[in-house]
Amino acid sequence: MTSVTKLFDEGEIARRVAELAGEIAGACPPDLMVIGLLKGSFVFLADLIRALDRAGRAPMVDFIWLSSYGHGRESSGSIRLIGDVPAGVAGRAILLVDDIADTGRSLAYARDLLAEAGAARIWTCALVDKPCRREIELAADFVGFTVEDVFVVGYGIDYAEKYRHLRYIGAVD
Ligand code: IMP
Ligand code: MG
Repeated sequence: MTSVTKLFDEGEIARRVAELAGEIAGACPPDLMVIGLLKGSFVFLADLIRALDRAGRAPMVDFIWLSSYGHGRESSGSIRLIGDVPAGVAGRAILLVDDIADTGRSLAYARDLLAEAGAARIWTCALVDKPCRREIELAADFVGFTVEDVFVVGYGIDYAEKYRHLRYIGAVD
């Protein structure tokens, strides 16, 4: 049986998301387009855009669906785009959001897609950063929480499609 150890509870997540929105509102232009990587970022993104609203911003929102993970804990290593790059990216300031920065490949891959599509400026944001796992050079501009080499779940983040519903972020053993 897999067990989950709580790392960050609902209150800590809400406070950190509000802080992040403040940091983003201070650093990024008002005409920001927020693009989340599916599926892991959907809960975080839902809270982040409302926190940005509280911070006085009115971001556009869209998604990119990348597939890299099988049903295990290790990335398959090859990333695929499912569907299309959102329309209207050309010339825009983009905040690219993922649940986790692990090897860094997903954020880098999506960032390159957006750059190719003509984005004017791209910032990256990861709710959870695992710098010790990085395999390519990628420093997220905004980070919610930094963790060691643990496999995290909850708040949208899955392990084999389970645990996305948890209100907290935990580590599975
Ligand atoms: P990267 O491309 O290796 O940086 O991995 C990023 C993606 O891998 C994230 O979007 C997650 O979907 C998945 N991932 C990486 N680490 C974890 C984890 O600890 N829990 C669940 N998914 C993870
Ligand atoms: Mg993901």
